[in-house]
Amino acid sequence: MRVVILGSGTGSNAKAILQAQRDGALGSAEVVQIIADKPDADILAHGETFGVPARYLDPAPFKTKLEGVGEDLYIDTIRSLGSDLIVLAGFMRVIKPRLINEFAGKIINLHPSLLPSFPGLDGIGQAWRRGVKVSGCTVHYVTAEVDGGPIIDQAMVRIEPDDTLMTFSEKMHVAEHQLLPSVIARLSEGG
Ligand code: GRF
Repeated sequence: MRVVILGSGTGSNAKAILQAQRDGALGSAEVVQIIADKPDADILAHGETFGVPARYLDPAPFKTKLEGVGEDLYIDTIRSLGSDLIVLAGFMRVIKPRLINEFAGKIINLHPSLLPSFPGLDGIGQAWRRGVKVSGCTVHYVTAEVDGGPIIDQAMVRIEPDDTLMTFSEKMHVAEHQLLPSVIARLSEGG
């Protein structure tokens, strides 16, 4: 199963996926490309570390969504890679129906909350400010509804009385780094 990872930032989840691949824990999935919509995104460096091609693709003309010329470029590139699975790992841009339909049922997203609670930006901060005692992360299929597609799996994170936003965030990232590679591995095995 050929996997393409799309991201915008740190890429700690991309790194976790690549580490799982190196450890033989990614099933029959193989990451063939990392794509960033920001030329200086740290996620690109993980490709070099793990020997996986990584490149910036210009998402212009829009700032927060992928539509128009940029969308064409992404569709053509992903298609040319023969991708079976597109993983949005911190891709901070709304994907529009044309790309979603082009790769129907093949795009998954990682979201830092137990959806359907706290969709949208800053799922960790939203949960923290609301004072919930249990949160977690979700991997779901991408549909036209932002953070609204069918849920594939979730991992729970408990917020303890002595947690701070920082320790809660750290626990969330640990959970994400376990959940996302395990979902990819299961999907690659037909799960
Ligand atoms: C993660 O918290 C993910 O849930 C959200 O964006 C963040 C990406 O982190 N969608 P990283 O770039 O993988 O470190």
